[in-house]
Amino acid sequence: MSKSTLSITDNRTGRQYEIAVQEGAIRAVDLKQIKLSDDDAGLTTYDPGFLNTAACRSAISFIDGDRGILRYRGYPIEQLAEKSSFLETAYLLLQGELPTASELDAWVYNITHHTIVHESIKKFIDGFHHDAHPMGMFVSTVAALSTFYPDAKHITDEHSRRDQIFRLIAKAPTLAAFAYRHSVGMPYAYPDNDLSYTGNFLNMMFKATEVKYTPNKTLEHALDVLFILHADHEQNCSTSAMRGVGSSHADPYSAMAAAAAALYGPLHGGANEEVLRMLRQIGARENIPAYIERVKRGEFRLMGFGHRVYKNYDPRAKIIKRVADEVFDVTGKNPLIDIAVELERIALQDDYFVSRKLYPNVDFYSGIIYEAMRFPMDMFPVLFAIGRTPGWLAQWQEMLLDKEQRIARPRQLYIGSDTRDYVPIEQRR
Ligand code: ACO
Repeated sequence: MSKSTLSITDNRTGRQYEIAVQEGAIRAVDLKQIKLSDDDAGLTTYDPGFLNTAACRSAISFIDGDRGILRYRGYPIEQLAEKSSFLETAYLLLQGELPTASELDAWVYNITHHTIVHESIKKFIDGFHHDAHPMGMFVSTVAALSTFYPDAKHITDEHSRRDQIFRLIAKAPTLAAFAYRHSVGMPYAYPDNDLSYTGNFLNMMFKATEVKYTPNKTLEHALDVLFILHADHEQNCSTSAMRGVGSSHADPYSAMAAAAAALYGPLHGGANEEVLRMLRQIGARENIPAYIERVKRGEFRLMGFGHRVYKNYDPRAKIIKRVADEVFDVTGKNPLIDIAVELERIALQDDYFVSRKLYPNVDFYSGIIYEAMRFPMDMFPVLFAIGRTPGWLAQWQEMLLDKEQRIARPRQLYIGSDTRDYVPIEQRR
């Protein structure tokens, strides 16, 4: 009978070791027993960028990158996008099961009644330059929320955690919309509790002089689907930041500000903004081949292409392409979609992209839809952050409740100078 172990022979010493294999993994600490001598700290693993290191056991989202599969708590993303709502999906991610009707009502009620932010938050936002990037304002105001809710420090108290979860999911759209209104010089629009989560966000973004804002149902639904698609994606860069900062027992506002900051980068959630810049720069379909040649020469990357985990079509990108059609029926077609579709077609026939398994990711088409809905480019990563908030919080809570988790603290391989004596400045060359 086969054993669930790994036999290792250390050719440096000739010693043999048997290491347990569980759930397709060995425990890195089991390698510490492999030593050259008694005072050796033991063998470690070296994995820059965590290409093959699992930092946790998680029951939240499942990705099969080779087959292009994404599931939240076992439910295929395609079914959730078609049948669920963003707040129901948030409940699923955080509670582990789909809610009953009364559970969902209570959940929606609690989130709806936490959407208002303290008036002083407006003063923070007023302090930013008119051309401040909304993501910078979002990161800062999420961090600032921790100063308004000092009870958030009680991360081991289930009730306190629940309150902060309501507040963060509820207030993320308010902070995002306030940041936008500041950048365009419009008065802040307050939440409207009669509207859905997404409808209210559109209200806070786009309400002008009308007494009551009525969101377009198709656009409201499309944005809700986009939020569902962004809600969680296992141990990506921003989620790892959320877990890493949370592992020091910082409050969830501080941890989520760190997660949002990680999301901001162009290799992660900032890519959707870069995709639009790229499509504009390409400008016309006939310029695509020359642009692709420059990508292949290594001058720059094709933004919105490639993924650490998906080596197949990102299932979210497929759904987004369908949502785009629904949105364009209302808004009129965004001409950039033709360039994007052609760019995808040419890239997916090119050996450079095929051999590296580079497919469109979630960011490739999302920006085109956001732009058609009148969101300015620099709001794209903020929209991503609103959608990802429940995922970050679910991962944060799972980390806190996991008895195996400790403060995140990777090892290093020291490659610097050996010990040496301090040299007085006049003797240095
Ligand atoms: N365009 C051109 N070449 C690419 C691209 C791209 N978008 N992505 C990867 N490659 C190439 C690399 O140059 C490398 O080629 P090589 O083997 O000849 O050196 C190979 O493909 C592997 O790339 P890595 O950088 O090792 O892949 P990694 O898993 O580290 O990076 C990442 C993944 C960051 C997403 C990368 O594909 C990328 O930069 N994409 C563009 C930015 C983007 O769209 N980010 C959004 C990701 S989705 C999200 O975060 C929500």
